[in-house]
Amino acid sequence: MGRHPVSQLIFSLAALALVAESSSPFNITLGSSISTEPNQTSYWLSPSTNFAFGFFPMSSEYIIGIWLARTKTRTLVWAANHDHSLFSDSYSSVVFNHDGFFMVHSVQGKKAKPLFNVNVSASYAMLHDNGNFVMYGLDSNVIWQSFDYPTDTILVGQALRPGHSLMSKCLKNSSNGYKLSMQQDGNAVIYDVNKGDQVWNSATSGRGSNISLNLDSNGHLNLRYSVIIKNFTNGEERFKSTNGSIMYRSTLESDGIFRLYKERIGNESESSLVIWNSSTNGVKSSEHLSDVKLVETGCFGGAIAAVAVFLYWIRRCCNAKSQEDNTECPIQEV
Ligand SMILES: *[C@@H]1O[C@H](CO)[C@@H](O)[C@H](O)[C@H]1NC(C)=O
Ligand SMILES: *[C@@H]1O[C@H](CO)[C@@H](O)[C@H](O)[C@H]1NC(C)=O
Ligand SMILES: *[C@@H]1O[C@H](CO)[C@@H](O)[C@H](O)[C@H]1NC(C)=O
Ligand SMILES: *[C@@H]1O[C@H](CO)[C@@H](O)[C@H](O)[C@H]1NC(C)=O
Ligand SMILES: *[C@@H]1O[C@H](CO)[C@@H](O)[C@H](O)[C@H]1NC(C)=O
Ligand SMILES: *[C@@H]1O[C@H](CO)[C@@H](O)[C@H](O)[C@H]1NC(C)=O
Ligand SMILES: *[C@@H]1O[C@H](CO)[C@@H](O)[C@H](O)[C@H]1NC(C)=O
Ligand SMILES: *[C@@H]1O[C@H](CO)[C@@H](O)[C@H](O)[C@H]1NC(C)=O
Ligand SMILES: *[C@@H]1O[C@H](CO)[C@@H](O)[C@H](O)[C@H]1NC(C)=O
Repeated sequence: MGRHPVSQLIFSLAALALVAESSSPFNITLGSSISTEPNQTSYWLSPSTNFAFGFFPMSSEYIIGIWLARTKTRTLVWAANHDHSLFSDSYSSVVFNHDGFFMVHSVQGKKAKPLFNVNVSASYAMLHDNGNFVMYGLDSNVIWQSFDYPTDTILVGQALRPGHSLMSKCLKNSSNGYKLSMQQDGNAVIYDVNKGDQVWNSATSGRGSNISLNLDSNGHLNLRYSVIIKNFTNGEERFKSTNGSIMYRSTLESDGIFRLYKERIGNESESSLVIWNSSTNGVKSSEHLSDVKLVETGCFGGAIAAVAVFLYWIRRCCNAKSQEDNTECPIQEV
């Protein structure tokens, strides 16, 4: 078992208090690093401390990602790679330089492995209070941001754009892979990756080619381009980012259900609440089995999608070894 996240948080807050006088603690400057080694800071926090980026402890290893740091359950909302297959052990560091973020193994002394690199010069980075990890260029322009590479979750202000997908994260049982695709045909579809079947869709095929799935601060989950074409929820209490007691997230889970959660930030006795799930809205596959064309561009598109699913499956199999070494799904760390 890795170090307990709560003790890590306390340690890190203490460390932050020490450095706060000399520099802005939330500005990740060139040459900064985090490490899993003893007595080293293993993550960076957002200014409100609502989110953390770094080594998320899982069994005896770590997954590099972003998690909710002030909720009853520490929940991973992003991982450095889409399928959560990258793990590190207790001799790993993440270092930041002009070319981006790299993982370094201090014992093996292996070549630094890129986590997310850029081909323009980076100058600093920051984990924002909305959970977006952003790298800036020389004139403070955004050169990379985690919001552009969602894994299994979208956060408030984040969109799942056409051609992008979420991947469920239960890795230990490879028969349980699901993918939520925001298709170019306007339909949001959940696929069982193993079988290639649809398990849910938003029934918005043909409504536009630039439709994205969005979550806003009031908990509205919708599909839109310039106008909303489908509301999944009616929205409720407002998210307050500074005094923020409430935050929303929408996650594709290992059972193939996409759920919208309301998170209580800063109250560690209150659990998160599911306020919507994909089986309460949209269309279930059983009602629309004739729609199981993967994309509506005919056989060719279907074939491409089938090949993509096949390649994904092969990749999952190749990753299976390292995944099996983990005894838990990297879903939540209580
Ligand atoms: C972060 O630090 C860099 C380098 O010291 C500086 O150029 C940049 O303006 C800082 N950004 C913020 C938002 O503090
Ligand atoms: C870590 O810090 C604790 C207390 O400050 C100290 O006792 C311990 O020796 C340190 N461990 C290492 C490996 O530096
Ligand atoms: C920089 O990277 C982007 C995306 O990774 C790529 O589209 C672009 O062509 C690259 N630019 C150069 C100059 O290599
Ligand atoms: C994987 O999941 C399936 C369906 O949920 C279950 O029947 C099977 O026993 C699981 N396999 C393992 C190795 O857990
Ligand atoms: C698609 O929508 C995004 C914003 O949602 C916009 O930035 C982009 O320009 C649009 N693309 C096209 C081709 O209309
Ligand atoms: C979605 O909800 C908003 C209010 O939050 C409303 O203005 C809009 O008309 C609704 N759109 C659809 C397509 O239901
Ligand atoms: C935070 O919210 C609570 C109740 O919603 C309120 O009583 C309190 O004054 C707020 N604090 C700040 C700093 O806004
Ligand atoms: C935290 O949640 C519990 C249970 O809902 C509630 O009784 C308590 O007042 C909350 N504490 C704060 C500080 O909001
Ligand atoms: C989805 O939500 C509905 C209504 O809230 C509930 O009855 C159902 O059990 C939920 N389904 C799943 C799979 O969570």
